[in-house]
Amino acid sequence: MTVAERAPAATLVIFGALGDLTRRLLVPAIVNLVRGDLVGDDFRIVGVSHHDGDDDHLRDRLDDFIGKADGEGGANGDKAGAQDPDWLKLRDRITYLKGDFEDAATFAALKDQITGNAAFYLATAPGFFGPIIASLGTAGLLEQTDDAFRRVVIEKPFGHDLPSAQALDADILQHLDESQIYRIDHFLGKETVQNILVARFANTVVEAVWNNRYIDHVQITAAETVTVGTRGKFYDGTGAMRDMVPNHLFQLLAMVGMEPPNSFDAESIRNEKAKVIAAIRAPKPEDVATVAVRGRYTAGRAGDADVFDYRAEPDVAPDSRTETYVAVKLMVDSWRWAGVPFYLRTGKGLAARDTEVVVQFKPVPYAQFAGADDARLPPNRMVIQIQPDEGLSIDILAKKPGPVIEPVPVSLDFAYADHFRLGHTTGYETLLYDMLTGDQTLFQRADQIESGWEAVQPILDAWAAGGEPEPYAAGSDGPDAAAALLARDGRAWHAIGRSA
Ligand code: BG6
Repeated sequence: MTVAERAPAATLVIFGALGDLTRRLLVPAIVNLVRGDLVGDDFRIVGVSHHDGDDDHLRDRLDDFIGKADGEGGANGDKAGAQDPDWLKLRDRITYLKGDFEDAATFAALKDQITGNAAFYLATAPGFFGPIIASLGTAGLLEQTDDAFRRVVIEKPFGHDLPSAQALDADILQHLDESQIYRIDHFLGKETVQNILVARFANTVVEAVWNNRYIDHVQITAAETVTVGTRGKFYDGTGAMRDMVPNHLFQLLAMVGMEPPNSFDAESIRNEKAKVIAAIRAPKPEDVATVAVRGRYTAGRAGDADVFDYRAEPDVAPDSRTETYVAVKLMVDSWRWAGVPFYLRTGKGLAARDTEVVVQFKPVPYAQFAGADDARLPPNRMVIQIQPDEGLSIDILAKKPGPVIEPVPVSLDFAYADHFRLGHTTGYETLLYDMLTGDQTLFQRADQIESGWEAVQPILDAWAAGGEPEPYAAGSDGPDAAAALLARDGRAWHAIGRSA
């Protein structure tokens, strides 16, 4: 049993301290680290934002969100979690610095407050990533010594497309070494995502059939009932493709598709993941219409809530052409995956919240059972349920008791909840802890991000050139064209929300 040690003393500077990410996810995650004794009383937080405010104002704002499931605090003004003893241990070690992100005085003031190890978390609009890093560099805040690390955590989206991601990398590498950069993809903080590696590389029965001889195709789904809500300003300029595909869904694809690393150190794992992402074939411009689908939700009901038409959402342009749903068929050009389509889909305002990977196996070569219709037995499938109802199941065939041999589908189910306490975590705990202890395994490297953009760039270009997303009713499974995408290949999507 490996026991995690306490992270070293450090100051975490959060740019965007009054934003949603800080209160819903980052600070609750740090409280969980305090609870697990993984950060000590030599850990402190400096929150930076351009709004007026002081230490108490920031701490009061955070009170609402402590101890709430998945960042749902604040809605009813209930501060039930505010007395949490672990939060109280951290609360006094949080201070506020009012300052403009583009003003050198902010960084001078920050310099006066920091000695020793420091990590700078950019929980800001993406436009500030480059300028903040440049100012930190100019102020000398990124210089490391033997006794003091300096690290920068960058939220997604990293760039808006391939050229902007390359430009951002070039900019920040003027001030930082790659080993100081932690590009976050919070999907990698999820236990169930990390479990894909264990499911594959610790189980002979899995890895032995994990290739194009036995696998027919792979489906990766991240369906959400939530809509754009109050995030219109960000989302309308981003869309479902940029928000979810080259980052979150490609990380899942990489976990499923990577070769076994030589060891579990950060660079070995990141090398293997980078190879798979680089092997995703970018569709030819003339093929975009047949391999990619975009949709936009219209009014309806999703997840027990009435939903506006996307174009009527706050901060969304009434003539917006932004997609809230994407489905795409991608091929991975490698020895292992040649000929195996990866179908990816994600969308908002859908029938259920359901993030899953479905690996569908090829049919047996010959089914000799009388009564088995035309040898088309239902396929074996492995369903890796990322969230909710975390687990892994395998659909196999069994003989239905009776005088004739009739194979029927049954499922071997592993549910996390039956074996482990997953506890109440945000997914950021692991990522923050790893960053503080200098482990980059679960963070994206520049080459992964750039290959991700490269693979989707022809689709983004084709969509920018014209056309409209296909409307789908909120609360449905998405646009009809997504079903047609698989039907053309004689396949069908796994039902959304099967386990919810
Ligand atoms: C974020 C996206 O990165 O991931 C959101 O910006 C999306 O639009 C979210 O809702 C999904 O994350 P999770 O952990 O809720 O599946």
